[in-house]
Amino acid sequence: METVPTETVYGLAAVVADPKAVDAIFRIKGRPQDNPLIVHVDGIHQVGQFAEEPCEAAKKLMEVFWPGPLTLILSKKPDVPDTITAGLDSVALRVPAHPIILDVIQKTGPLVAPSANPSGKPSPTRASHVEQDYEGTICVVDGGNTQIGLESTVVDCRDPQEFVILRPGALDTASLSHVSQIPVRHWKSEEAVSAEGFRSPGMKYTHYKPNASVYWIPSERHPDGTLRASLPDNSLLILHSAGQPELFSGRVVHVEGDFSTMATLLYDLFRWADRIGLQYIYIESLPEESLHPILPALNNRISKAIGAYS
Ligand code: TXA
Ligand code: MG
Repeated sequence: METVPTETVYGLAAVVADPKAVDAIFRIKGRPQDNPLIVHVDGIHQVGQFAEEPCEAAKKLMEVFWPGPLTLILSKKPDVPDTITAGLDSVALRVPAHPIILDVIQKTGPLVAPSANPSGKPSPTRASHVEQDYEGTICVVDGGNTQIGLESTVVDCRDPQEFVILRPGALDTASLSHVSQIPVRHWKSEEAVSAEGFRSPGMKYTHYKPNASVYWIPSERHPDGTLRASLPDNSLLILHSAGQPELFSGRVVHVEGDFSTMATLLYDLFRWADRIGLQYIYIESLPEESLHPILPALNNRISKAIGAYS
């Protein structure tokens, strides 16, 4: 078992065919047994080992977006172990776009690879994050900073009339429906508990939480550009639009409208705030989600870090 980089976040990888290693992943992460794992394969040719025949629209998504930050939920083959799927009748599959993990898959066969963080904490986007989380007890292959910084888009593709995004990521509804040519919508929190239970078990757990408390701060400004806010000094303030807060001597990070960079930095900033002992993280409210494909994912992760996701 080792930690490997992907284009989204670092994953703690175990060979699918090694049940002891798969068990160890749950133990090391402190992950609830009812939260299923994503199977990482090296191409479409391996899908049939785990899933029943996907519909044509799902195949189009694979052809266009794999390798890439897209996880597809498909009906599983009966012999996929219950530990991987948490007893569900579906399986999650993705082809990651990073030469290191692809190289490992080619040598060992398919891998399960949850984000390498201890359950509930922000995912690691640098090798040093993993070293800090596990105090050097787990082997990390250092592939530098991950390119995207937020986990893959998880799409339930089992209904050929409509696909449902269970976890937003870098690929948004517009690009997914454009390629698949069928409607793609976001899962709604009211659907959390249905007759069949949670559609995606991961959704019911606290996620992405730093020790510092996270809050939105309204994007309101004085005519002179200063932010209307008085904040405690032991805070980190993350701004995406220009302008300084008035009367504030804490730390400020500006991403100047670059939401891709904000996604790449988000977990590192959460972790950094904890390392230097800041108590609060304030994040400027995000604009309308359609303005940038990563905005739904940023909104989802920050809302979960705040603990008030709806
Ligand atoms: O970007 C990523 O997807 C990263 C990298 C390492 O590949 N992996 C990752 O894995 O984020 P993990 O285990 O941290 O998150 C997987 C999510 C969880 O929310 C889980 O509940 C959901 O995918 N999931 C897995 N199998 C599922 C299934 N059969 N049905 C519904 N949701 C599933
Ligand atoms: Mg995770």
